[in-house]
Order: sequence, then structure tokens, then C-alpha cells
Amino acid sequence: MAMERELALEFVRVTEAAALAAGRWMGRGQKDAADAAAVDAMRAMLDSVHICGTVVIGEGELDEAPMLYIGERVGCADAPCVDIAVDPLEGTNLVAKGLPNSIAVLAVAEQGKLLHAPDIYMHKIAVGPEAAGCIDIDAPIKQNLEAVAKATNRRVNDLTVVVLDRPRHAQIIREIREAGARIKLISDGDVAPAVATAIPGSGVDMLLGIGGGPEGVLAAAALKCLGGEMQARFWPENEEQTARALSMGVRDINAVLTHDDLVRGNDVIFAATGITDGDLLRGVRYEGNRARTHSLVMRSKTGTIRFIEAVHRLDLKPMLKDLLARQE
Ligand code: FBP
Repeated sequence: MAMERELALEFVRVTEAAALAAGRWMGRGQKDAADAAAVDAMRAMLDSVHICGTVVIGEGELDEAPMLYIGERVGCADAPCVDIAVDPLEGTNLVAKGLPNSIAVLAVAEQGKLLHAPDIYMHKIAVGPEAAGCIDIDAPIKQNLEAVAKATNRRVNDLTVVVLDRPRHAQIIREIREAGARIKLISDGDVAPAVATAIPGSGVDMLLGIGGGPEGVLAAAALKCLGGEMQARFWPENEEQTARALSMGVRDINAVLTHDDLVRGNDVIFAATGITDGDLLRGVRYEGNRARTHSLVMRSKTGTIRFIEAVHRLDLKPMLKDLLARQE
């Protein structure tokens, strides 16, 4: 069943609530508390949306997550059926330390269209619309950078690649440096920079490296809406992870996941709200009874991209007020 257009704005209310709840924990050094606040708020708000949703990417399996576990039903039973991928707090360390680029994020598509990615690593390459169709995850990094430079009418040393600052990326970083491109090393949070590759003026041209699989599907949903491209491949750390992925329906753990494997078809909604300031979105501001949020909501079918700045009257929104009060 096709998704209704109005749903896009409904989903922004969901990411706004998660961001408003998590933002209170900025810099408090308690990543689990920040995450719990975001999960709680997102879960509560999802039930007010007219969908019959199944969480396909969430906080974990039923036995490890009390809310937003994989397979959980959200919304109302008599509404259109959709699959939902959520990350109520993408970048828990970023919020705990008050660092940039943490977001509350979700993607929604018709049933069966989002890859049911297990929570294992995934090797990813993401670029914006001008370079879509020019990348190949199996090609040498230098070749991909040259292709992006050509497609965007620039030189390789004009390009900026975002990479998670991890020992596992030593070889990737060396190859990017040898090719001459610039690098932005980040401590956490690879969804926002993947999306930023497709936002003009963001200063990010490519995301490269190994990060979370669920985050890969969320970024792929955003890039579908923006006309960018993402390719990936699972990067299991042991046999047990491979077995889990296979049991979740992954057919070939070594196969390249094309953009269409990550998010099938062309009707996906993506919504994100900034928690801390970042490349893509500003963070939450609290002003007494008011709070400001900055969100991005998009739908691939229509290609509409909306940046939404909202001022929330917390005193007039009992549900939000309640959720925020729980943290005080
Ligand atoms: P959180 O689950 O703490 O929000 O972390 C998110 C993240 O930084 C992702 O953005 C990234 O894909 C992944 O973790 C990287 O994993 P690791 O920290 O194990 O390298």
C-alpha cells in the first residue's frame, strides 16, 4: 500500500520529540541515559502516527531492548502497513560529550523495502547526486576519488572524505592521503556525514569506511531521497555475526549491497532532527517553556526536501512536557 504524503510531517514530530528529550543530556557524560530518553520519547510519539508500523531496524532484539525492538508493532492496527528503521539517538557519545552531529533519525518504507540489517559492521561508500553512478566499492579508493572529482568538476585534492577515526581504517586513511584528498576524521556518528555528501555546501564529498549496518540503511534511505548513492558490504567480526546475519535473511554475507539492496524501490520517507549542532542540522535550543529544533524530512517519491525549524511551546504540549519532566 502506498504511503500517504502527510505522513512525512508526522514523522518529523517523532524525531523532534526524540531530539528534545535527548538534547537535555548534552555534555552530561551519560550516554545510556541520553539514549533511553530518546527511545522513550520516540516510542511514545510513534503511537500517535496513523500507520501500522513494524520496526525492522531498532534498538535490538526483543530480549535486549524493552522498546523499539526489532519486530515491535507501533502505531494503530487499522492503518497502512509500513516498515520502520529507527535510531532515536545516533551518536550516543556525541551527546554525552556535547560533540557535533548527533541526530534523532528514522526511515519508513512500504513493507519489505528496507534491508533488515543486523547490528554488525558494514563497509560503506556514499556520495552525493553529481557523483551517483560513478562509484564502485570494489575499485581502488584513488579510482573512486578520481571519478568523484571528474563528476563534480573538481580536483581530487579539493575533495573532503569523512572517515570514522578508528584503527581499522588505517589503510583507508593512508590510501585517501596518497590520492591527495582531504580527510575529516570523526569520533562517532556516520549517518549525518553520509547524508551531508548530498547537501550542497556541506563541505563533505564522500563517506568511506566501516560503521554500523543499521546506520548504513538509514543513510541509504536519505540518499535515495537526495539522489546520491551508497554501496556497502557487511563486515562481520566473527562466525557468530555471520550466522546471525544469515538467520535474518541475508543471503550472501560477502555480496556487494547496492543502493537498491539497502533500500528497495523509490518510496521511502526519511526524517532527522539535530540533537547537537552538526554539518547537516543545528542542535536543540531550550528557552524556558520553548525549545527550537532543526529537522530534515524528505520523501524519495516526490524528491521534496524540507528543512524545518520548529519552535515548541512545551507548556502547551502535555506529552512533550511529560517526557521532558521525566528527566528532571
Ligand atoms: P551509537 O550507537 O553510540 O549511537 O554509535 C553510533 C556510531 O558512531 C555510528 O554512527 C557508527 O556507524 C558506529 O557507531 C561505529 O561503530 P564503532 O564505534 O564500533 O566504531
